[in-house]
Amino acid sequence: MMGKVKLPRSAGSRRTRLAAVGAGALIAGGLAFSPVAFGAAAPPKYPAADIHKPSPMPDRVILTPTTTPSTGQKVTWRAVTDAESAQAEILEAPRALGGVAPPAGAVTNVKAISTTPVNTTLGYASVYHTVEFTGLKPNTRYSYRVGDGTNWAEWSDFTTAAADLQPFSFIYYGDAQNYIDSAVPRVFRQAFAERPQAKMIVNAGDLIDSANSEEQWGQWYKAAGFIDSQVNNLSIPGNHEYSGGLSTFWRPQFPYPDNGPGNPELKQTAYTVDYQGVRFVGLDSNVQSNAALMAAQATWLEGLLKDNPNKWTVVTFHHPVYSTTGTRNNPAVRDQWGPLFEKYGVDLVLQGHDHSYGRGNVATARKSVTVNNGVAYVVSVSGGKMYALNNGENWTGNGAEVVSKSQNTQLYQLIDIEADKITFEARYANGEHHDGFVVRKNGKGERTVNELRTAENTVGEQVTVDKTTVDHRGELTVSAYGYDPAERVSVSLRKADANARGKDSVSVDVRDADELGRLTYTFRVPSNLKKGETYVVHLDSANQKITSPAVTVNEK
Ligand SMILES: [Fe+2]
Ligand SMILES: [Fe+2]
Repeated sequence: MMGKVKLPRSAGSRRTRLAAVGAGALIAGGLAFSPVAFGAAAPPKYPAADIHKPSPMPDRVILTPTTTPSTGQKVTWRAVTDAESAQAEILEAPRALGGVAPPAGAVTNVKAISTTPVNTTLGYASVYHTVEFTGLKPNTRYSYRVGDGTNWAEWSDFTTAAADLQPFSFIYYGDAQNYIDSAVPRVFRQAFAERPQAKMIVNAGDLIDSANSEEQWGQWYKAAGFIDSQVNNLSIPGNHEYSGGLSTFWRPQFPYPDNGPGNPELKQTAYTVDYQGVRFVGLDSNVQSNAALMAAQATWLEGLLKDNPNKWTVVTFHHPVYSTTGTRNNPAVRDQWGPLFEKYGVDLVLQGHDHSYGRGNVATARKSVTVNNGVAYVVSVSGGKMYALNNGENWTGNGAEVVSKSQNTQLYQLIDIEADKITFEARYANGEHHDGFVVRKNGKGERTVNELRTAENTVGEQVTVDKTTVDHRGELTVSAYGYDPAERVSVSLRKADANARGKDSVSVDVRDADELGRLTYTFRVPSNLKKGETYVVHLDSANQKITSPAVTVNEK
């Protein structure tokens, strides 16, 4: 990059100038690089009004889910056109388009509903148009385009949800908010490159910095580009989507289901979508000072959790139950919603606001070194504005623990839903692994949250024993976590003296871990163990070789 920079001859040696430019860029925090003059005066800044001005050609094309995502789909876009002309065409995704005409009758034309004009801060107003496709087939790929009958966007494809639980992936982002036109796009694009088949993008608020900035919304759409035209977007507002009220862009852009608690203030900021075996619940945490709106959401939330036919539940809102940054604290969220997440076993709570990363659970959920059985609470950030981590006191001071944290890192999260497990992974903007875990749940609703095994993560599990002294031929119960489902485990006893390992190993049995990766096994200690001698229980399997604390065989 620097090798291409042309330098003025008069200003010292070439080497000195290069060093100076490099230092300047670093001093600027690595975020806003200093402008480098090539000799002439700096060019004028291209006006935002010219960059983001609408035209008859559709832009800002985005999919949002309906309450029946297996048979319906909404698409919204912006264009200068009259309400009578805005429309979409849809057909089952053909093998070719362009020179190949679809069969007669294959294309359905749907008229749009258009909003009243939004925002004039850049000297123009924008009109958004929404089409709701209905009567679609489940789990079926469609091609559609939006336009005015003359000026059309390109064809884009989406696949409807399956009617029941089927594996799918979604992406989750914390606050984009800042540097949307510089640092955010690479995050969005990297995530999409790794989960191009994702069915949903969840944004936990603060998508932009200034609620009613036409320029920032324009940047936000450009950051994702075509991705939003083929992946459903499930966003809830953060405090930065509010400025003397909800952003005037929110409802025109995001026509989410009107199925929230019923308060007009929460229309399309608190809503729910059942998607292919997952109940997504979006809450509006910006109303914490309004007791009535918080209570209304709590009541509504409890109804959704109590009577939930879906295997998995994902809740998203902006202000974290446990804050990772500074002295931030959201007691209303924690006290009114937190107990419901725990009571009904929500799987993932996805949050933002703190501009750092934190993941953890209530402390009482800890089962072993790497396994807990609690709700997974996550805070993350996708944009370039960063806050320093606190010491986890908002977690530990409220009965929770932080398992993974990070600061000064832009992240995206990939979540893979399957029938028996959810795999969650957080990665940095450059694609490197940061954090991950696997949630497993059985038919009884029992759950384990297991640390994701990676090359870097080989933290040892331990075998738990129910007693540290055992009678000769007495019973001993061992338990351990962290296995793959049905992983085969050899159980043996070894002399605790490390020098004796191998020579004095007594095999007991081979057992299988259960469907949640747990092993509990009660056995009678073999008669050839020596009285007065101290042993450890050793569990040997493909994924872990672990031992128990010392167990002494009683003298009599
Ligand atoms: Fe934020
Ligand atoms: Fe925020």
